[in-house]
Amino acid sequence: MEIEQLLEERAGLVDMELPALLQDIKPPELGAAVAYAVASKGKRIRPALVTLACEAVGGTARDASFAAASIELIHSSSLVLDDVIDKSEKRRGRDTIHKVWGTDMALLTVQILAALSLKIAARDPRLIHAIADSLFYMGEGEAMELVDFAKDKRSYIELAFRKTGSLFGSASQVGAIVGGGNKQQVKDMTGFGKHIGIAFQIRDDILDCISSEEDLGKPVKKDLFMGRPSIVILDALNSGISLERMMKCNNGELMHLVEDSIDYAEETAKEEMELAKSHIETLDENHAKRKLIELGEYIINRSK
Ligand code: IPE
Ligand code: IPE
Ligand code: MG
Ligand code: MG
Repeated sequence: MEIEQLLEERAGLVDMELPALLQDIKPPELGAAVAYAVASKGKRIRPALVTLACEAVGGTARDASFAAASIELIHSSSLVLDDVIDKSEKRRGRDTIHKVWGTDMALLTVQILAALSLKIAARDPRLIHAIADSLFYMGEGEAMELVDFAKDKRSYIELAFRKTGSLFGSASQVGAIVGGGNKQQVKDMTGFGKHIGIAFQIRDDILDCISSEEDLGKPVKKDLFMGRPSIVILDALNSGISLERMMKCNNGELMHLVEDSIDYAEETAKEEMELAKSHIETLDENHAKRKLIELGEYIINRSK
């Protein structure tokens, strides 16, 4: 099965979990904002990771569907919050929650989505720790962006871990837990997720420079104009290309100007992918493990 097909299949498992949660949110305006957030679907990469991690240690995808839904809700909540912070007006091809309902209602949507995630996760209390960890790290990571924390590769990777790698780490961690993995397997799987998550963020930074709003469903060149720490921009700055020069470029020109930095970012994503693989080296070979590696390859090469 191709990765795209797998993503769709696993998204289906998550979709079965969600509708029941959306009943009875008061007032109806808040209910509408939460329903809108849940209805606009992204690539659903994290649910694929949760379910594959579960299968890789001996469980079934179905065993992990609630855990996948819980992680996807945390992801959705982080996007609503991120769009407020980044002042972004498009997400998944639609107007953002704060654009439609205002910032206050968007912040409350974040809270409800996180609460729904915890409600689902509480079916297996072992998941709560993993979710608390990534909520904490994501908060730190988003704050690091606001204070000019990332100045070199090392600090960038630390930020990318917090902002994005942590939730990928928790995704594979909860998958391995519900799959009945032993302590070492859970640890290995967490490491795998963390590194493919960092690679995912690097690819996101590259796409911000080379893609279009039409293809991504969200604004591009945000990192450049909002002063966000993208590894591409950071490397370009460190190699003497000024922000002013980058900002004057149209899409094609920017891609050309920062070509070497894009190569550098691609290399760094590959390094993270290798690190990810090294974490699951000793795990028994099986179909799910091969799919996890394919998912990682998809992540570093994706065009949306
Ligand atoms: C976007 O994540 C946020 C980042 C961590 C870069 P995704 O690209 O997985 O978002 P959706 O779920 O597909 O919209
Ligand atoms: C999003 O980071 C990370 C979290 C939501 C925690 P970005 O700001 O880089 O993601 P996009 O580009 O808006 O999707
Ligand atoms: Mg953003
Ligand atoms: Mg952001």
